[in-house]
Amino acid sequence: MIDILSSASWREFRGEPNNKGMNLTTHLASVEDASGKLHNCYVKLCPQNWPSPITEAIGWQLIRALNLPAPDFAALIMVPLDRLRHSMKLDQHWLNHSEALAFCVSEVNGKPITNSWSWLATLRQKGAYKKYEVAGICAFDYWVNNKDRNTGNLLLKQNGEQVAIDNEYILYDQLWKGRFGFEIIEKTILVEAKNHLNIKEFNKFKLAVASHGKNHASAMNATRGDLSALIFTLIPDAGSAQSIWDAIDGFLTARAEINWLSNELGVIV
Ligand SMILES: Nc1ncnc2c1ncn2[C@@H]1O[C@H](COP(=O)(O)OP(=O)(O)O)[C@@H](O)[C@H]1O
Ligand SMILES: [Mg+2]
Repeated sequence: MIDILSSASWREFRGEPNNKGMNLTTHLASVEDASGKLHNCYVKLCPQNWPSPITEAIGWQLIRALNLPAPDFAALIMVPLDRLRHSMKLDQHWLNHSEALAFCVSEVNGKPITNSWSWLATLRQKGAYKKYEVAGICAFDYWVNNKDRNTGNLLLKQNGEQVAIDNEYILYDQLWKGRFGFEIIEKTILVEAKNHLNIKEFNKFKLAVASHGKNHASAMNATRGDLSALIFTLIPDAGSAQSIWDAIDGFLTARAEINWLSNELGVIV
């Protein structure tokens, strides 16, 4: 199971990133893992009762199990808010808490390829959809119902590899939709590709995406025990944990079936 670290593991504030994204609590910190190794991490506090710790942890573990590029280290961590407040302003929402659960993930040395979402529109980026891992991330997003794969959530490393970060809005219909007073405007690689590729290129891309579907069942099988342990750890009420786990497991397992993705995309692989 992904590590759940105590506040003693939040060792040192390392700054606020230039690009914080939507969550204004995001900061950099040195985090000590269970074996004592230090990681320079992006740390994002999770509002109480939001599914973020579950979705981020599941997303990171599945992407790793699919052998797609991912940050080396991730964990859930209790952040000592009194110490964090010494270095960074937190809004009143956090006032009554001395600690808060956060998702932390090691820094990837890469940059979003553009600031705007229309990255496939420009020639420079046109090669992006031809990359193995971009098709793999697109397949993963479709499988897990990720509604927010914006360009800030794909980092381009110097070696040309695209790394998926921020899997917060996976399992959208199961865990998010209609529950928190806001709706995410759907952003997916597949829709972008459809808008910006010609029919031949798009069909080729769909084939590449569909061929990744055959990896989903084994990734699910490899992580099922860890994912279920996480749900039962984070949700103290055993009855609620069981029903949430059954919904997640049923959803992901059915959509990992060998021909499911190719049927959805209307291609034969
Ligand atoms: N592991 C990481 N390595 C490098 N940059 C990161 C990492 N995690 C987050 N970032 C940077 O911080 C930004 C916001 O983080 P993200 O997890 O996407 O939060 P949000 O939910 O607010 O979009 C990202 O767009 C990226 O620029
Ligand atoms: Mg993001």
